Amino acid sequence: MKKTILMYWPQGGNVETCAKHISDKYEDLEMKSIDQVNNEDLKNAEQYIIGCSTVGSETWDNKDNSDPWPAFINQLDQVGINDKKVALFGLGDQVRWPMHFVDGMAVLNEQILNKGAKVVGKWPVEGYDHEESEAQNGDFFVGLALDEDIQPELSEERVTKWVAQIKSEF
Ligand SMILES: Cc1cc2nc3c(=O)[nH]c(=O)nc-3n(C[C@H](O)[C@H](O)[C@H](O)COP(=O)(O)O)c2cc1C
Repeated sequence: MKKTILMYWPQGGNVETCAKHISDKYEDLEMKSIDQVNNEDLKNAEQYIIGCSTVGSETWDNKDNSDPWPAFINQLDQVGINDKKVALFGLGDQVRWPMHFVDGMAVLNEQILNKGAKVVGKWPVEGYDHEESEAQNGDFFVGLALDEDIQPELSEERVTKWVAQIKSEF
């Protein structure tokens, strides 16, 4: 079976909670926060799942201003990922940020596509109450949108369906 790695940031909040939900649906998924990923991890896996928030809890707490995303994106460049398939998930809050819901996923999507990898796992916008999202193309988000602030009760079901979907798309 092809190897899959789940990589996420930030730690200790909703993204990590949802990363664990996703990991629970796999038997042998490797899961790492992006600051712990090394080049071998990236080379060895054929399929990536990458999760982000849109300005998340670490900013809110203002405990640590370091942001590992730029270094991670550089690392993807160094390794070369044009033969990889990538599925994205993003956390957001559709009520407090209805015009920018899960925008963070759009940044990741663009970066991944620029590097020649294939993005799978687009997800229908039906069931969300946002107004605009940069991560939306027509009736779909570019990956799985999760909202632990407003719709936490829907996350498990969404994850279950999405994981079945990406397993077949990978
Ligand atoms: C300062 C701040 C800004 C945020 N901006 C957005 C935003 O633009 N769009 C959005 O969908 N969610 C936004 N959120 C909501 C977070 O993305 C959401 O709460 C997410 O679940 C946080 O994940 P974490 O707990 O892993 O950090 C923001 C949250 C905070 C604290």
